[in-house]
Amino acid sequence: MRILVTGGAGFIGSHTCVELLESGYEVVVLDNLYNSSVKALERVEQITGKKVTFYEEDILNKEGMNAIFDKEKIDAVIHFAGLKAVGESCAKPLLYYHNNITGTVNLLEVMSSHNVKNIIFSSSATVYGDPKIIPVTEECAKGEITNPYGKTKSMLEEVMMDLQKSDPEWNVVLLRYFNPIGAHESGLIGEDPKGIPNNLVPFVAQVAIGKRPFVHVFGSDYATPDGTGIRDYIHVVDLAKGHVCALDKIKENCGLKIYNLGTGHGYSVLDIIHTFEQACGKEIPYKLEERRPGDIAINYSDPKKAKDELHWEAKRDLFTMMKDSWNWQSKNPEGYGK
Ligand code: NAD
Ligand code: UFG
Repeated sequence: MRILVTGGAGFIGSHTCVELLESGYEVVVLDNLYNSSVKALERVEQITGKKVTFYEEDILNKEGMNAIFDKEKIDAVIHFAGLKAVGESCAKPLLYYHNNITGTVNLLEVMSSHNVKNIIFSSSATVYGDPKIIPVTEECAKGEITNPYGKTKSMLEEVMMDLQKSDPEWNVVLLRYFNPIGAHESGLIGEDPKGIPNNLVPFVAQVAIGKRPFVHVFGSDYATPDGTGIRDYIHVVDLAKGHVCALDKIKENCGLKIYNLGTGHGYSVLDIIHTFEQACGKEIPYKLEERRPGDIAINYSDPKKAKDELHWEAKRDLFTMMKDSWNWQSKNPEGYGK
C-alpha cells in the first residue's frame, strides 16, 4: 500500500514515516517545508534503510496536488500538514483558517476526484476545550475552544464527518492527540521548533542545553497536587505507531472513527522538569509565574477505546520520553540546522 503523508517532514510526520516504512508501506511525502527540513526525511531513510518519495508542495496548491495524485497510486492519506502555534493563530487567524481549512478542503477535493477515500487526520485534545470528564473519553462533548488553531481542528473534524456522511465509501479516522513529546531513540529525528518554543518539553530541553536560563512555569495555583498544570504526555514513537494501527482499521472499511491517542496518565509541569533533570543529569532552573491565558488545569485521556478497537496502547514511560528528548537535543543542539 502506498500512503501519502502530508506534513511528513514535520515532527510527528517524520516519526510516522519511520513506522510506516518499517511496517512495509510505501511512503510519499508532501510538505512545503514551512516548519520543517528535508533533512528529517534523509534521516528517516537513514533509520529505515528505505526510500521516501518527496514532493515539496503546498496543500494550498490544488494543481500541484492533482499532479501528485495523477502520478502516484495513493491508497490512503495521513494528513499532518497544518500550522499549529496557538499564540500565532490568535495574532494571525486568517493565516490559520486559510492554511488549515482551505488546504484541507483542497486535499479532500483532490482525493475525491482521484477516488482516494481513506484519510487519517491529526486532530487534537484541544477540541474538548476544558473537558467535562477526566480522564477524557471520546464520548466527552467538544468544548469551548479559545484559539483559532484549535477551532480549525474542530471545524475540520466536522468537515470530514459531513463528507463521510454524504458518501459512506469514505473511511475517516480522526485521531485526537494529547501532548506528543520525545524523539526517535536513534536521536536522528526529533522536534525542531523555530524561535522560542511554545511547548513545555522543547523549552525545558533548551534550558538543559544552556540556550535559555530557566523554565517559566505558567501557574502554580491550579487545583492539582503541586499547583502546576497536568497533561497527558505521549511519546511521539507511540503516537506514530497509532497511525499504523489506524491504517489497519481503515482496511476494515471502518467508516467514521474517532480515537484519543494518549497514555491515560497525567503529569504536572514540575514532574516534567524533575524527570528531565534525571534524564540529563543536570539541574533545570525554573521560576513559578502567572498562569498562561487560555490554559486549563488538567487534561488527560482515557485511552481504552484505542486499546480495544485499534489494539494500540502507549508503551513508553515518562523517563523514556525525557531521555529520548535529551538524546535528540544534545546530539542536535541546532536541530536540523536550517
Ligand atoms: P509540524 O509543524 O512539525 O508538522 C507539520 C508539517 O506540515 C510541517 O512539516 C509543515 O512544513 C507542513 N505544512 C504546514 N502547512 C503546509 C501546507 N500548506 N502545505 C504543505 N505542508 C504544510 O507539526 P507536528 O507537531 O508534527 O504536528 C503535525 C499535525 O499534528 C499538525 O496538524 C498538528 O496540528 C497536529 N497536532 C500536533 C500536536 C502537537 O502538540 N505537536 C498536538 C495535536 C495535534
Ligand atoms: N507550560 C509551562 N511553561 C512553558 C510551556 C508550557 O509551564 O514554557 C505549561 C503549560 O501551562 C501547560 C503545560 O506546560 O500546563 C503544557 O503546555 P504545552 O504548551 O506544552 O501544551 P498544551 O497542553 O498547552 O497544548 C498542546 C499543544 C496544543 C494541543 C494540546 C492538546 O500545544 O496544540 O497540547 O493536544 F492542542
